[in-house]
Parts: sequence; C-alpha cells; structure tokens
Amino acid sequence: MNADLIIYNIGQLVTGKELPIIASESPMENIEILKNGYIVICGSEIMAVGSGDVPSKLIKFTTKLIDAEGCVVTPGMIDSHTHLVHGGSRENEFVEKISGVSYLEILEKGGGILSTVKATQDSTEAELIARAKKSLKIMISYGVTTVESKSGYGLDSETELKQLRVNEILNHEQEVEIISTFMGAHALPEEYKDNRDEFIQSVIDLLPIIKERNLAEFFDVFCEEGVFSTEESRKMFLEAQKYGFKLRIHADEIKNTKGAELAAELEMYSADHLMAISEEGIKSLKNSNVIANLLPGTSFSLGKEYAPARKMIDAGIQVALSTDYNPGSCPTENLQLIMQIAALKLKMTPKEIFKAVTINAAKSLGREKRIGSLEEGKKADFVMFDAKNIEYILYHFGTNHTNKVFKNGCLVYKR
Ligand code: NIG
Ligand code: FE
Repeated sequence: MNADLIIYNIGQLVTGKELPIIASESPMENIEILKNGYIVICGSEIMAVGSGDVPSKLIKFTTKLIDAEGCVVTPGMIDSHTHLVHGGSRENEFVEKISGVSYLEILEKGGGILSTVKATQDSTEAELIARAKKSLKIMISYGVTTVESKSGYGLDSETELKQLRVNEILNHEQEVEIISTFMGAHALPEEYKDNRDEFIQSVIDLLPIIKERNLAEFFDVFCEEGVFSTEESRKMFLEAQKYGFKLRIHADEIKNTKGAELAAELEMYSADHLMAISEEGIKSLKNSNVIANLLPGTSFSLGKEYAPARKMIDAGIQVALSTDYNPGSCPTENLQLIMQIAALKLKMTPKEIFKAVTINAAKSLGREKRIGSLEEGKKADFVMFDAKNIEYILYHFGTNHTNKVFKNGCLVYKR
C-alpha cells in the first residue's frame, strides 16, 4: 500500500480516538489530540496517524505532501440532525416570532412546519435538489462531511417519498454523505385534526414501502405536547422497529413528555433536543447507550432554555451536537456557530465539543466504525483549520475557520 497523500506539521491533530476516561476529567474529554501530528492517506482511507517526523519509508516518489503549518486538523465533522430537504423559507414569520409569538402558536395557526409542508409539496424534485445542494456547499465550507437528512415536510406519501428520493439522489450528485431518516410524523396535517389515528396509520403504512425501496435507514417522530403524544410515538416507533428501522427521536424539545425515557426504553440511537429533559430523563439516558443529540442553535433561535448539557455530561451521558438546520426553528447550516454556542451557552469544553461533532455524532448514526475519528482503516474525511488550537475556533465566533476540507481522501473545499 502506497501513501497518496501525507499531511504533516499539524500543530494539534484531533484524531478523535477515544482514550480511557480519567477520573479527574469529564467523561467526554477523552479524545486524543496529538501535537506535531501527521496523517497518511491511501486512496479514500487512512493508512497511518502519528506524531513527530513522518517515517521516511512511507514517503514515496508519487506521494503528495501538504504542510499544515502548525494548524489544527480534525475528523470531518458530522451534522447528525438536519431537515435539509425543504421548499421555501419562513422569514415572513420572523418579525412575529421575535415579537414573542411562540413556535407552537404559529404552528397552530397553520404556519410553522405546516407552511413549509405546503412549500415542499409545491416544489419539484429538481427544485428541492438544487436547493439542498446549495446548503450542502455551505455545510462543506464549515467542515461538515456527513449529514443526516430527515423527511417530514411532506406528510403525504407522495411528498415524503419525494423528499427521501432527493436524499438518495444527493448521495450520488455531490460529495457529502447523506444519511436518510423518515420522519412522516413531524406534524399533524390540518385535515386529520379530528382523525389522528388515521394519520398515524398512514405513517405506519409507508414504512414497508420505504424499507423496500431502501429510502431511509432511520425513523424519527416529533414527540411533543400538541404534536404526537408519547403513546402515539411509541406505537409508531414499535412498528418502525419491526421493519428494521433504526430509531431517533425529537424528545423533550419544548415541553417534557418523557421523550428521553422513551428513547432509553426502545434503545434508540439518539434522543434529540432535550431542552426540557427531567431528572428522570437524565437517569434513564445515563443507564442507556442513547446519544443525547443537543441542538443549541434552536434554543438560540427560538429564545428558549438551553439543554442542561453540563448536568448530562457530568452524569456520564455521551452528547452529540448538530445544527437542526431547518427553515423554522434553526435556519442555519453553520455547524461551527452551533459549536461556539455550545461553548458559550452549554458550557461545554473544546474537547467535549469536538468529540460531540465527530465520534459521538458518528455513534448516533451507527457509523463509528467508518467515520468520526482519524484512525487506521477509517475514511479519510478531515478538516484543516486556519487556527493553531481548538480553543481559538470556539472563542473567535461567527467566522469560518476552515481552510481545507477532504472527503474520502479528496479535496472538496479550499478557502
Ligand atoms: O427540530 N421540532 C420539530 N422540527 C424542527 C423544526 C421544524 C420547523 O420548524 O420547520 C426542529 O426544531
Ligand atoms: Fe429537528
């Protein structure tokens, strides 16, 4: 095996490899950071990682060498919760929203998610693809190489399938890997107001069709007061599990509905949001392998409480961080901004934050054997930052610190 590419003189190489947890540190600070590091790449995979001088036997005549000039290199970042594919935008609700009208009030009036549903139903597949590609380009520029993307702006079978097909097409037509989630239960359409069970059945009826066409790996529900109850959610999740879907959940976002407890009970991959998680919820996540996927950009944008990240991490829960990119509660593709908010508002440390967007995000998507850390045999997805240490990336907020981004060993973004 010959090295195609070597990055050397890396000031801080965040490999993301998990180290044994030390009692004096938080249980999320156990990621490896090498000083004066290098990575060796063969094709789309990592061949070696180390610190100090690159062993000369690895450098062949054809090997391309890149000097990182003492800067930070990290694994490609993973945005593990987005509503990437949608039509329209909602700036028409923005002034109302900042004047104090609540998210659920706007939804009850037929705005919010339901207005994006209409715009998505009215968009052609080609329009949705073009729109999502634009967002993915922005995401790559911030160092994101893998994105989870949910349906849920269709709420009818035709549009849900259209959104999921767009996910599939995007996987072939641009560089970011898309992981597809079916979220048919994202809101209750007006016409089902007095017929909730019929709508829930329509979501369940779509499961085998989506499975057969291999259009989604995960299943998600908006379990929330006024949206889908815990009982309704459990019913759909159990059906999805029967068809082999992996589970994730919008849990305890606005009101506590024991979503975290449900995630633990059904051994889901992730419980997302958790701004209103209870002590009981924290206990149940602690005793599970569920990743707590926190989305502080949503609290920031909705003017809501932040999830009690410190409490969760100190209790031993593993946390991921994502944008929740969507046209309503968090209209930004910028994962670095979310990481900066996590530092300032969730009081997460730089090491915890980088763990949250790399190996823990990979775990929340069941991809930790392939991506999420820079280790021999894993995918050569990595980011070269224009910063000498990880603290700087979080402290200097609102700017993009990315210099170069590589996916599968190929340069996909250059400042
Ligand atoms: O994760 N909470 C539900 N879904 C999204 C918001 C979607 C929207 O407002 O369009 C969220 O916050
Ligand atoms: Fe969401």
